This record gives sequence, C-alpha cells and structure tokens, in this order.
Amino acid sequence: LATSEVDVSSVAEGQSIIVKWRGKPVVVRHRTAKEIEEAKATPLNQLIDPIARNANLPDDAPATDANRAAPKAEQWLVMVQICTHLGCVPLGQQGEYDGWFCPCHGSEYDSAGRVRRGPAPENMAIPPFKFSESGTSVTIG
Ligand code: FES
Repeated sequence: LATSEVDVSSVAEGQSIIVKWRGKPVVVRHRTAKEIEEAKATPLNQLIDPIARNANLPDDAPATDANRAAPKAEQWLVMVQICTHLGCVPLGQQGEYDGWFCPCHGSEYDSAGRVRRGPAPENMAIPPFKFSESGTSVTIG
C-alpha cells in the first residue's frame, strides 16, 4: 500500500504501535513528557547526525526535536524503525538515551530517534505523514 491510515486514539502516553508501510516497520510512539523534555534539552552539537531526516521538511532541516516530532503534536513520533547502519530493527525504549537500541551492532538512538551512539551514521527516517484534524489518526505515505 502506498499509504496507511492508522487509528492512534487508543495509544496511551508511553505506548507505541508499529505498522507496516511499504514493507517497512513504522513506529508511532506516544512519547512521555520526560522523553520529550530530554530530546528538547539535547544540544544539537551533541548529535552524530545534525540533519532532521524528515521527509516532510527541507533536506537540510536541523535535527531539533520539533523537526523530528509531529507538527503541533510533539508527543507523537512517527518514524521508520530501521537502523541506519545495516538495516536491523532496533528495540524500543532501551539503552542509555530512552530511545532505541539496535541489537545488531549496538547503535543507540534517543527519544526523538536521533542516533547518539554509532556505528549507525544517520537518524532514523521520518516518513511522509499527516495527522487528521481531530488528531486521532495519522496517514503515513
Ligand atoms: Fe544497527 Fe548495525 S544494523 S547497529
């Protein structure tokens, strides 16, 4: 399917769902206040990859938390859950940065999906997506 519409109305804070989009796992995470705070507080110069990697923004948009999260709904992170090293699927809410840990070679990502420890070279990708007016569903693709 070129697009997937996902009902997120029952995804509580601290929960995630994973949907398939173009054969890839896409995580829709309802981030906790702590996760959002941590991601916002991270200086950009501490990031391995300073680029947002967000298909909804210009190619050179910086990797601020606002440029990673959903517009006007910063609690939502919609992201292709594939490690940018060699394509394993990282495990959610693990590792030192309250984000994702890749069991293949140990890369770690923060709560905005930004790579914080290699060997992965890039932040995990944000696909094209749009929330409904009511905010209860998101269309990916
Ligand atoms: Fe994730 Fe290598 S594939 S660290």
